[in-house]
Amino acid sequence: MTTHYRPTAQYTSATAPGALPLLGHAPAFVRRPFDFVAGLAAHGDLVKVRLGPLDAYVVCHPDLVRRLLTEDRTYDKGGIIIDKVREAFGNGLATCPAADHRRQRRMLQPAFHRDRLPGYAAMMAEEIAGTTARWRDGDVIDVPAAMYRLTTAVTARCLFAAHERAGSLPVHECMNVVTRGVARRMMMPLPGADRIPTPGNRRFQRAQRGLKEITRRLIADYRAAGTDHQDLLSTLLSTRDEHGRGLSDGEIHDQVVTFLLAGMETTAATLSWTWTLLAANPAARDRLNAELDTVLDGRPARHEDLPALPLTSRIISETLRLYPPAWILSRTVAADTELGGHPLPAGTTVLYSPYLLHRRADLFPCPDRFDPDRWLTTARPAPGTYTPFGLGARRCIGDTFGTTEAALALATIAGRWTVTPTPRQPVRPQRSSSMSPRSFQATLTRRVR
Ligand code: HEM
Repeated sequence: MTTHYRPTAQYTSATAPGALPLLGHAPAFVRRPFDFVAGLAAHGDLVKVRLGPLDAYVVCHPDLVRRLLTEDRTYDKGGIIIDKVREAFGNGLATCPAADHRRQRRMLQPAFHRDRLPGYAAMMAEEIAGTTARWRDGDVIDVPAAMYRLTTAVTARCLFAAHERAGSLPVHECMNVVTRGVARRMMMPLPGADRIPTPGNRRFQRAQRGLKEITRRLIADYRAAGTDHQDLLSTLLSTRDEHGRGLSDGEIHDQVVTFLLAGMETTAATLSWTWTLLAANPAARDRLNAELDTVLDGRPARHEDLPALPLTSRIISETLRLYPPAWILSRTVAADTELGGHPLPAGTTVLYSPYLLHRRADLFPCPDRFDPDRWLTTARPAPGTYTPFGLGARRCIGDTFGTTEAALALATIAGRWTVTPTPRQPVRPQRSSSMSPRSFQATLTRRVR
C-alpha cells in the first residue's frame, strides 16, 4: 500500500476550535461524532477537546498513537469510554488495569491459540449455514439485525458449545439491550445520568441481571460435568496462573461477558457495512462472486478455504478501514508524562480513534474510496496507521477469531445470495461508541451461477 506518511520529529498540539461556554465540544461530539473527531487531525497531532467539565486529548498522529498503545503502563485502560464499559462489565480482559492485565492475558491466551481456530471455525460454519438456511428467495431482511443474530449465534456457540441450544440462548436479547446501553452511556459525558431510574436504565439493569444469571447457570453446569468441550468456557474453567490458581466464578462471568460484548457487535457491524459497500461497488462484487464461484461453487465456506479467498479477506480489511467498529477508545494517564513534547498530568483522559487515522489522506490515499486492492501489497502498514484491532499489549485477543468469522460469513452468504440494500440514501452510522450502521433493509436474491 502506498502512503505519503513520513515520521516527524516535531509534533504539534492545539485546542479544537468551536468550544461553547460550559458545554465545550460536547454538542458537536454528540451530534456528529464521526465528522467532529475525523476533523481534529487538521488542527494538530495532539488536540485538546472539552467535553462538558472534562478536558481530553485526541491523538491524531500515528507515531503518537503507537506510543500511546505500546506504553500501556503509562497510558492505562481508563478514561470516559473504557470507564463506562468497566462499570457495566467489571474487570474483564478488555477493561482491567495494566496491573491485572498480564496475568489475565496469559490465562486467556490459550482460548485463542492458533490450534483452537479450526474447531471454532467448524462451529462458525455450522451456525452460519443454519441461520442462512432459513432465508428464502425475495426475503427482505433488516441487515444489521440479521448480522447481529448471526454473530450472537456464533459467539454463543463458541463460548458454550456444550449447551444444546447455545445459538438460541436468551443471551441475544440481553446482550442487545446491554451493548446498546453501554454504547449510549459512553457517548454521554454527563456524570450520573445512567443512575436515573428511567425505563431505559431499568431495562439495562434487568438485562445485566439476566446475563449474570445465564452465565452463573452455565458455569455451574460445566463445573458439574467436568468435561472439556473444546470451547471458550471450558478453557476459562481449566486455565491456571503461574501459582496453579484458576479463575473464580465472578472472574469467569466478567470474561464471558467481555467476549460477548467485544465479539458480537464488532463482527456484526463489519458484515453489515460490507453489504452496503459491495452494493455500491458492483465491480468489486462481481470479482468477489467470481472468486467464490471458482473456489466454493455454491457450497458453504470452510476454514481451509480461506487461503484461497484472498479478495474476500481484502474486502474485510478494507471494510474495517472505512468503518472500524471500535472507532474511538480511551486511556488514562497513570503518572505525569509527556506525549509529542506536550506535558500530560496523571489522570488526563487520552483518546485515539482508528476512524480518524484510517481517513487521513496522507496515510491512505483517496481515503473515502472503497478499494480492497490497496491491500494487495505485502508491505504492512506502518504501526499506528491501521488500527481496527488496536496495538500493543492490549491489542484485540479475538482479531483472528473475528476476521475468520467475518470471512466465512461473507463467503458463504455472497456465494449464494445477492444482498441488495433498499435505501436510496447511503446508510449512515449510528451515533454510538461502536460504529454500526443504522437499521436498513435489503432484499435477498438467490444467485444463479
Ligand atoms: C471485527 C471484529 C473485532 C474488532 C474490530 C475488535 C476490535 C478491538 C479493539 C480495537 C481492541 C483494543 C481496544 C483498546 O485499545 O482499548 C479490542 C480488544 C479486545 N477484543 Fe476485540 N475486536 C473484534 C473481535 C473480537 C472478538 C471476536 C473477541 C472475542 C471473542 C474480542 C475480544 C477482545 C478482547 C477480550 C479485547 C481486550 C484485549 C486486551 O486488553 O488484552 N474481539 N478489540
